[in-house]
Amino acid sequence: MVNIAILGFGVVGSGTAEVLTQNLSLIEERIHKKLNIKYILDLRDFPESPFGHLVTHDFHQILEDPEVSIVAEMMGGSHPAYDFSLACLRAGKSVVTSNKEVVATFGDELLAEAKANGVRYLFEASVGGGIPILRPLTNDLSANTILSIDGILNGTTNYILTQMRTANTDFAVALKSAQEKGYAEANPSADIEGVDAARKITILAALSYGTLLDPNKIYTEGITKITTADMEVARLLGYAIKLIGHCEKQGDKVLAMVSPRLVPLSNPLHTIDDVFNGILVETDMLGTTLFYGKGAGKLPTASAVVGDIIDIAKNPKNDPAAPLFKKNGKMADLRNYVCRNLLVLANAEDANLTEVAEHTELIDGKLAIITKPISEAVCAELCDTLGGNLISKIRVL
Ligand code: HSE
Repeated sequence: MVNIAILGFGVVGSGTAEVLTQNLSLIEERIHKKLNIKYILDLRDFPESPFGHLVTHDFHQILEDPEVSIVAEMMGGSHPAYDFSLACLRAGKSVVTSNKEVVATFGDELLAEAKANGVRYLFEASVGGGIPILRPLTNDLSANTILSIDGILNGTTNYILTQMRTANTDFAVALKSAQEKGYAEANPSADIEGVDAARKITILAALSYGTLLDPNKIYTEGITKITTADMEVARLLGYAIKLIGHCEKQGDKVLAMVSPRLVPLSNPLHTIDDVFNGILVETDMLGTTLFYGKGAGKLPTASAVVGDIIDIAKNPKNDPAAPLFKKNGKMADLRNYVCRNLLVLANAEDANLTEVAEHTELIDGKLAIITKPISEAVCAELCDTLGGNLISKIRVL
């Protein structure tokens, strides 16, 4: 019998209990082992829930119970989630989590701690919700050099942008709906300001390049400045606007960034709407491959959490070749990053952009310019010279 404790009975925690109940016999048949949820840790009581009798308010009851071998941390936030995870690993219990904040901040330390204690720390659900991405990236693609990753990594913002584009829905209404569906973070500013996507691209870059950047230091721009007018200009030019996390290796440095991007029709991320996430991984041997599915929500995310639990139930011991990453790697300078940009100018006559313009179009009296590929440094200088004439500037993917 494999005994499991769930820390945090919110959206994902309760989803995990549900998946482990609904598909229990199927899972047990597959792994030839019995699984049992022994505790659920939460500050609240759940008298109406079929799992209510499992609730404890005392973390030490779990920590000191030698029968519990797997702990599923789904508390959210850094503390006490990190502290509890560390204590469990030190007590010889494997930990699985959907907590992006903890993995992007302390993942190096927790992986090393798991290794030191012969147990496992898995976090498939921390990126892409239910989409299998971390295990394929580190196992199935291990013959490849990861050249770059571009991903729609946040379901809430993709849902909002889709609603704004297809139903002309107000930003606030779309956000409220995403919260009601259980997609958004407890504090949705982490979604709309790009912080959640920054944590996820940090994790993807760490697994791809072995360097855990500081997610608070990577360039992060959310979707709060995107207007319906931007959406319309993008649509007329043949693009959709998506919040994209990007990472790539530049020599011995790693570049990671999050910003809204114009995604052309020819890119498979163009059609990925609503809560769906899409992660395009470009490698040297396979070429480009797309991972697609529901990036947030109760049961999709719980599917990945339970996948990790099953993996550990099958292989409880730390694999000596399990991925590790380290902090203090070098972060590439964003000013050298080169891409096309959309510039929208209020006054077409003022602009003399023939040198940088690849395509120009007059839309509603405004001049929309797609630049040639230019560096961030050159683009910033250009935007400075345009001053108040510049209405919008959005990078192109
Ligand atoms: N708030 C996150 C999102 C949840 O919307 O993608 C899944 O990580």
